[in-house]
Formats: sequence, C-alpha cells, structure tokens
Amino acid sequence: MSEPAILQSTDGEIGILTVNNPPVNALSAAVRTGLAEGLAKMGGDPAIKAIVVIGGGRTFIAGADIREFGKPPSGASLHDVIGAMENCSKLVVAALHGTALGGGLETAFGAHYRVALSSGRVGLPEVLLGLLPGAGGTQRLPRIAGAAYALEAMVSGRQIGAKEALAKGIVDRVVEGDLLAGAVAYARELLSQKAPLRRIRDMTAKVDSPTLFEGFSKSIARKARGFKAQWNIIKCVEAAVALPFDQGMARERELFGELLTSSESAAQRFYFFAEREAAKVLDVPADTPQREIRTGAIIGCGTMGGGIAMNFANAGIPVTVLETSQEALDRGLKVIRGNYENTAKRGGMTSADVEKRMALIRTTMSYDDLKDADVIIEAVFETMEVKEGVFTKLDQIAKPGAILATNTSGLNVDQIASYTKRPGDVIGMHFFSPANVMKLLENVRGKATSKDVIATVMTLSKKIGKIPTLVGVCEGFVGNRMLRQRGIQSAYMLEEGALPQQVDKVIFDFGFPMGPFQMSDLAGNDVGWRIRQGKNEKEQRNVRYTGYVADAICELGRFGQKTGAGYYKYDLPDRTPIPDPAVQAIIEETSKRLGVTRRAFGDQEILERTLYPMVNEGAKLLEEGIAQRALDIDVIWVNGYGWPVYRGGPMWWADNVVGLKTIHHALLRYKEMSGDPFWEPAPLLKRLIAEGKKFSDL
Ligand code: 3HC
Ligand code: NAI
Repeated sequence: MSEPAILQSTDGEIGILTVNNPPVNALSAAVRTGLAEGLAKMGGDPAIKAIVVIGGGRTFIAGADIREFGKPPSGASLHDVIGAMENCSKLVVAALHGTALGGGLETAFGAHYRVALSSGRVGLPEVLLGLLPGAGGTQRLPRIAGAAYALEAMVSGRQIGAKEALAKGIVDRVVEGDLLAGAVAYARELLSQKAPLRRIRDMTAKVDSPTLFEGFSKSIARKARGFKAQWNIIKCVEAAVALPFDQGMARERELFGELLTSSESAAQRFYFFAEREAAKVLDVPADTPQREIRTGAIIGCGTMGGGIAMNFANAGIPVTVLETSQEALDRGLKVIRGNYENTAKRGGMTSADVEKRMALIRTTMSYDDLKDADVIIEAVFETMEVKEGVFTKLDQIAKPGAILATNTSGLNVDQIASYTKRPGDVIGMHFFSPANVMKLLENVRGKATSKDVIATVMTLSKKIGKIPTLVGVCEGFVGNRMLRQRGIQSAYMLEEGALPQQVDKVIFDFGFPMGPFQMSDLAGNDVGWRIRQGKNEKEQRNVRYTGYVADAICELGRFGQKTGAGYYKYDLPDRTPIPDPAVQAIIEETSKRLGVTRRAFGDQEILERTLYPMVNEGAKLLEEGIAQRALDIDVIWVNGYGWPVYRGGPMWWADNVVGLKTIHHALLRYKEMSGDPFWEPAPLLKRLIAEGKKFSDL
C-alpha cells in the first residue's frame, strides 16, 4: 500500500500533520483530504492542545497540483480545508521551509500562526500560470500586509525570503536549524501565553493611498499587456479592501474561474511543464553519468563572450577568458565590470558582490592557461576559418574529457567538431544576446556528440541560470530557421503593398515586444546586408530574393537605431520609431521597379503570412528530428524571441488556438495566390491532419 499523503503524529500535547507528497508536496486530492481528516481528528482529540502543519522532505506545500486543473474536482476542496483550519478549536501553527507557494501559502494563511525556517521562501506565483491565488490569498494577503504590498507581491509572483516575510507579518517567527522543534516550541509558547486563535479573515485590509489602484494599473500597463491574470488580481484586491471577507472570497472565486477557463492560463500552464520537459533529452536517460564542471574558459570576449563569462561568475564558477590582444581583454573586461556596476547601482547587488564576481573572471592570451578547464566555450568571429583555428588549437591543449563548445549562431557544428580528434566532446551552446540577460540556451548536438556531454551541458545550462533546450544541426537551428520564414514574408509584403509600421503593429498587437522591422533596426540592418552580399543570395537561394527593400535602405546608410534611421527614423537618443515618408518612397519605388502593383493589406493576412510559415517550418524541424518535440520549439520561441507566453508558443498556438487544418488551408491558399513553392505544407502537417492528431501527440 502506498504511504498516506498526510502523516499524523504527536509530540506530547502537540499534534503534527506532515505533508508527504514528494517532490514538492503539491496539494493533490489526497493531500487535501488527508489534511481535512487530520484536522478533524486532532481537533476533536482532547489530548491535543495545538496542531503543527509541516511539509515533509525538501519543502512545505509548493501549491495546488497544477496537473489537476481542468479535471473534475475530487476529494476535499482547498477552501474547506483552509476554512477547517481557520475555524479549528485548537491552535494551529504552520511551519514553513523550502518554498511555500500559491495554495501552499494560502493553506498556511488558514493557520493561526506561521513560523518559517530562515532559508524558507514564500510567495503567490499563480500569476505566472495565468491565474490568481484562488484559495483566499487575494483576500488574506492584503489583510496581513496591506493592499499595496499585496498587489506588488501577487502581480510579480515573486518569491519572498523569510526575513521580508517576517517584516511584513506574513510569518510570525523565523527559526534556524530544526524547524519542527522550533514550531512545536512556538506552539507551546503560544499555548502558555493563552494566545488567541487569530484569524486573518477578521483583520482589515489597509490602503495607503486613494490613488493606489489607478497608479498601480498604470505602472504595470506595459509589462502586463495581453495578460489577463494581473488585471483580475487588481480587481480582487479592490474587493478585499471594499467588501466584507465572504463577499471578497466570492469575487475571488468568480475571477479565478474566469482565468481557469481562459486560453491564456491554459497556455501558461502548458508552458510551465514545457520548460521543465525541454531540459530532458529523449535518448539521454536522467541517470546518464555526467562530467564534473568546476572551471570554465571562454574564447573571445566580445559581445557574446563577455556575457557568457558573466553567467559563469554569477554561478560562482571560476572562468578564464582568452583573447588575441590585451586591448581586446581590457575592452571586454570593462564592459563586464560596467554591467555589474550598473546592476549594483540599481540595487541588484552590493559592490562587494561586484568584486567577488570580477575576481572569478581571469584573463589570458595564452592557450596554456586553458588546459585545466572542464568546459571551453568559443565565441569568436563567425567564420569557419577562425573557428577552425580555435578548435584545432583546443584539440591540442584541452585536457582529456574537457567539453569543447561553440556559440556559433549559424555554422555547422559537425564541421567544427571535425577540426578535432574528439568530436564526441564537441557541442553547440547557442546563447542569445545579451548573453548575461537572455535565458534561452539552444544547445546543439552534433552527429558525434556523446550523451554524457549532452547531459552535462543540460545540467550546466541550468546551473548558470539558463533555460536549456537541445536541438540538432541545421542552418539557423530551430529559432533562427523559423525566424527566417517570418522575415521572408515580411519582406515580400513590403514589396506587395504593406509598410513596416503596419507589419510591426500586427506582430506587436499579437504580443511580441516588437515587430520584425523594429527588431531589424535594433539589431542593425547592415548585418543581414553584409551576409546577403557575401552569399549572393539571388543566385544561391531557392526562394525569391528578399533583400530588395532592405538593400535600398542600407545603401542609404540607414542601418537602424545606431545611425538614427532604418526602416524608421529616430530622434536619438529617444528610440521611439517614427514612420518615415522617405522609407515609404523607397518601398514604393522598389515595388515599381519590380513591376508589382501595390495593394492594401489587412491585419489578418499579415498575421497569417508571418506566423503560419513559422508553424510550417516547425513541422519540418520535427520531421527532420532537429527539434525533439513541439514543446521544445515553443520554449525556444517564448524565451529567445519574445513569443507571448500567454499564447503558449507557435506549436501550442497552432494546435490549440488556430488548428492545424486552418493553417494547412491557408498555406494552400497563399500557394495558389502566389504560385510560390514557399507555401508548400510540410508533409507532417498533412499527416497529422489526416490522422486527426496534433503536434503535441507526436
Ligand atoms: N503541481 C504539480 N507538479 C508540480 C508543481 C505543482 N504545483 N510544482 C512542481 N511540480 C513538479 C514539476 O513539474 C517537476 O516535475 P518533474 O520532476 O516530473 O519534471 C517537479 O515537481 C519538481 O519541480 P521543479 O523541477 O520545478 O523543481 P525546483 O526545485 O526547481 O522548483 C518549485 C520547485 C519552486 C516549487 C517550482 O516547481 C515551482 O515554482 N512550482 C510551481 C509553484 C506554483 O506555481 N504554485 C502555485 C500553483 S497554483 C495554485 O496554487 C492555485 C491556488 O491558488 C488555488
Ligand atoms: P564580437 O565581434 O563581438 O566578438 C568576437 C570576439 O572574438 C572579439 O572580441 C575578437 O577579438 C575575438 N576573437 C576573434 N578571433 C579570435 C581568436 N582567434 N581567438 C580569440 N579571440 C578571438 O562577436 P560576437 O557577437 O560576440 O559573436 C561571437 C560568436 O557568437 C559568433 O560565432 C556569433 O555568431 C555568435 N553569436 C552572436 C550573437 C549576437 O547576437 N551577437 C548571438 C548568438 C551567437
């Protein structure tokens, strides 16, 4: 028989309910029912004077069981459990360690007193799942800590340390060492003081300023654009302030229900698990032995190398940076220091932290200094010749077993590996810019990359604060290959009648931080221009040339924000893009030159022509085995390219919002309209439709 989800024990006159639902003690039906039964039994036992509720294993309850959402309810309801605790005739103390999150903290709010381990963290992170605290959190937190604090805590969903929780009254005592002993002693102390059975519901929620809600709404408008939960949380806190407790609870229930059935929350809940799945590699079992990583080295301290070095230093891993000249090292190090100092200025770290991290970064011009490194990441210029030089050298000096990684954004990882006699140790680690900020890591397995190298790099990625994914070798890997499809159609639409601001607005309104032309202006239009010149794309590519407008723009020196003009003009230093009649003239002139009659574009067509080809390319990536699962593609797009998380990711969106049939139909329609083979649906798309399946069924 499996162990009960709630273990009951006693320490003298103190009853102890221990939650036993590893790994994170989520509030499954068994946990809720067990708590209800335990409270009823101990509540009615005259030998018991107080009850301690504590989590077994590594944490107190980390929240509702997210996998149960959307399924028919079973077992005791969380509201009833919390109500039973709050109304229990015995004094109840919740003892918190690990992460008491969401429904976990709400359960603790049902207790009369809370004690936390000093390392413990609490929080109401439901917003990150597109939800709101739905078991009284929106009504109780404002009563404990005031409306302003509650708004910020619930809308950010951040984790709160024990010290801050104590200062805000979220917990009543912080203890070191043995939490259970501390909680039992605290319960006895409260009993001896005849402390009241304090109920948060009887308190009043305070508002410090009459304009609190209006001001707060304004302050989050940009960040919360497109999301639903943040706005419902504000409405709940308004209710907590204005209404009696039970009416506030009814309002919370109504607004929670609205979110639970929303597509936004479904997408965000999918994404929560997708991010965790993406770290797992289908053919690399979890128990694959891993190499030990104690030190790292980076070749090249430019835009990417510097940021990558910071990730190591942030994780406390010593790292050596190699450059070709002292000047380049000095320049790179200056940028790193500047970044840290900026963080310190904003209060994100102390100046002692800055020095501690800088001390972890050593510099050199000699490969000899890299011979003990456990992992070496190359971030030099993007040409095969330079990469060949670096990897040939690394093969000579790196110790046996060292992992040799490349940050190439487009070159063939297998070819790079072939410059060594140890291709099994070579892997791609495609960081995104700025590498110290962007969370996504697109790791790239070569044909020969060994499984223990993959396992080690996936673990290392997490250790240095990244969200890892694993893809195979192809041009552009997953992210950039799909981005290219969007870029192709955006370029064609300009020639056919659209303007940059129109295309960008559709993409922005969809939820991306910016559209393709604003993005190009930010990254520098000259990058693509030089690549096109190098490749002579007109002849080499099987797709219609995409650079007519872009070339004309670059020929005028309009490289983007850095030159004050690109697809838009900019009144620098203000970076607001201003639509420019001169650009419109260039575009119209280009259409004329190409013999294209310009026509009006509707938003729907722009949306379909930019996003459907990405889904189609995603299908090809799955077919080719470059992406393991549709969810990996989604994690890449949400983290690396600003796909709005409340739309899940391109493949989830295709599966659950648009439907594969609709996409297939549109691809055929555009193919017929344009006669362009670009629009040919991926065979996988056709097959899934025929079988009545989705990408997520693969
Ligand atoms: N429900 C179901 N499964 C959960 C879960 C939850 N609330 N929280 C974590 N898990 C699972 C993970 O999917 C993972 O499963 P896997 O091993 O099969 O991949 C496993 O538990 C361990 O999780 P992590 O890998 O994330 O472990 P970490 O130690 O890195 O992080 C954590 C632990 C901080 C608790 C993190 O898992 C987390 O943030 N969990 C979600 C917390 C949360 O959102 N709680 C609120 C839920 S909504 C709610 O409570 C509604 C209420 O208001 C009514
Ligand atoms: P960068 O030009 O800013 O930096 C490259 C650095 O490498 C320079 O400091 C240069 O001095 C140094 N270098 C050149 N040859 C060297 C050698 N033989 N030995 C040691 N150092 C050498 O370039 P950036 O942008 O940092 O790109 C580096 C790599 O990262 C490229 O492969 C690029 O494709 C990739 N990448 C770039 C991204 C970006 O947005 N900039 C994003 C993802 C990957």
